[in-house]
Amino acid sequence: MDVLRQILLVLHIVGIASLLGGFLTQMSALRTGDGRIVPAMTHGALTMLVTGLALVGVVQAGLDKDVDNAKIGTKLVILLAILLLVWGNRAADRVSSKVLGAIGLLTVANIAIAVMWT
Ligand code: HEM
Repeated sequence: MDVLRQILLVLHIVGIASLLGGFLTQMSALRTGDGRIVPAMTHGALTMLVTGLALVGVVQAGLDKDVDNAKIGTKLVILLAILLLVWGNRAADRVSSKVLGAIGLLTVANIAIAVMWT
């Protein structure tokens, strides 16, 4: 079970890299207001959701560890907001700097919550 948890955690981190990396590629376009949602962002956000939910199941199924429901619930709500923004704008040629900035901020906020909320 622990190997499965570790594999899912690796994929969870790959998802963060894809979501945040996709956002970072749009940083210079963000200043001019002609950034867009790149596939790495949609795929990364979906990967976060799938691996996150699977991690909850695997951790809950183990006998020695429990998830912090308030922390996971907060991360889930933030990720759903990110998903709404990336999915809703994925076909647009240009995405406003506010939307792109919000995606970047919310992603970094979730990383901070994951690491600092103990
Ligand atoms: C952008 C969104 C997200 C980011 C940046 C993120 C980030 C992270 C990071 C850095 C870790 C490793 C540190 C730790 O163990 O706390 C982690 C673990 C975890 N994440 Fe996420 N996460 C996100 C979304 C989610 C969602 C939506 C869920 C569940 C619905 C979730 C469930 C979990 C669980 C259960 C663990 C702990 C695994 C363990 O105890 O070994 N995450 N996340």
